[in-house]
Amino acid sequence: MTCYLVTGGAGFIGSNFVLYLLRAHDDVRVVNVDALTYAGNLENLCSVEDDPRYAFLQADIRDAEAMAAIIEAERPDYVVNFAAESHVDRSIEDPGIFESTNVGGTVNLLNVCRAAWEAPDGGYGEHRYLQVSTDEAYGTLSLEEPDAFFAETTPLAPHSPYSASKASADLFVGAYGDTFGMPVLITRCSNNYGPYQFPEKLIPLMIRNAVHHEALPVYGDGLNVRDWLFVEDHCKAIDLVLRKGRLGEVYNVGGHNERANIDIVKTIIRLVSERLGDPEINDGLITFVEDRKGHDRRYGIDASKIGSELGWRPETTFEVGIERTIDWYLAHAEWVESVTSGAYQAYYEQMYGHRGAAADA
Ligand code: NAD
Ligand code: DAU
Repeated sequence: MTCYLVTGGAGFIGSNFVLYLLRAHDDVRVVNVDALTYAGNLENLCSVEDDPRYAFLQADIRDAEAMAAIIEAERPDYVVNFAAESHVDRSIEDPGIFESTNVGGTVNLLNVCRAAWEAPDGGYGEHRYLQVSTDEAYGTLSLEEPDAFFAETTPLAPHSPYSASKASADLFVGAYGDTFGMPVLITRCSNNYGPYQFPEKLIPLMIRNAVHHEALPVYGDGLNVRDWLFVEDHCKAIDLVLRKGRLGEVYNVGGHNERANIDIVKTIIRLVSERLGDPEINDGLITFVEDRKGHDRRYGIDASKIGSELGWRPETTFEVGIERTIDWYLAHAEWVESVTSGAYQAYYEQMYGHRGAAADA
């Protein structure tokens, strides 16, 4: 049986990954380790909480003692590190926690894995550590050169405190591979969308605000471009890289789906309005607001390496993925309200006898 230790598995991509693993493989154990910050929600995983192949442990990746005890007890074959502070706007407000969690937490996890996995001969057996990183580590592309893309060889040139922390973590992961021979892999993916994304990010925020007839805040001129990737396609890519990727390598994962923010927002308005039969949900809700500081203009991923080496390609077109996403959010209005209202803290306390970290802060 293969044991995966997934950190940050109660967040958006992490919970989709846990659900994907349990659907895709019979012979697995999936241990989800999450600190349950504001972004972590065990409700995402209520459909599997009684699955004997699944376990949840609340811990902080920065806590060396706790992480060592978990690795010692669970003896995972693979560690996949999703745990992070992930929102660029928050990193502009409060960079420190991004350095602490994204850099310090990653280094701590590497140390703990190394101590548990390294054999006296310096080998690591079949163990593998995968760092989930981001295309934002490469910096920005311009709108004037639409044929330029980020490749794995593109130099890291982050702009926001968030992307600087992710790039720093990547450098540590690479260094542990080079220096200690650790079996590491890095994936850098583009913007994910799909179920369970916290409504602070563009797509779920716009869906939520449209439903409530609230203003849809578009930063700057709305022409910044992102490459949108359906979260389930990303989960498949991570699992493939973990199992079959070449150790020490970086793999880009992209959606082949670049769109300007304003087009995304208009698509959401049209689809939500049609589905609810509500003409008051219209472009009049769009409100152009002050631009994000240091706002990266365009992300565009060259994902040919994972395609040619591992045969991965995104399977979900944007047209299908955005409809599935909107339908999920419309059907899960209670989830949206609970994660945004703070009521979910009470849910944790009642269900699990402890509170999320954000409630204790
Ligand atoms: P998220 O914010 O939805 O979830 C992060 C999870 O990490 C939460 O469950 C949170 O409780 C947990 N966490 C935070 N600090 C922790 C700590 N110290 N110890 C343990 N757990 C902690 O994030 P996401 O959007 O799911 O992103 C997951 C990963 O993927 C991140 O590393 C992010 O940088 C990367 N990424 C995300 C995207 C995207 O579009 N969302 C794109 C590229 C890369
Ligand atoms: O590219 C991968 C990255 O994608 C991940 O590493 C990050 O974790 C993830 O948050 C995401 O970063 P972005 O900054 O691209 O995503 P966000 O959803 O915050 O914003 C997407 C675009 O929409 C960006 O150009 C800013 C703009 N935006 C965002 C919000 C929240 C708006 O115009 N209005 C908004 O209210």
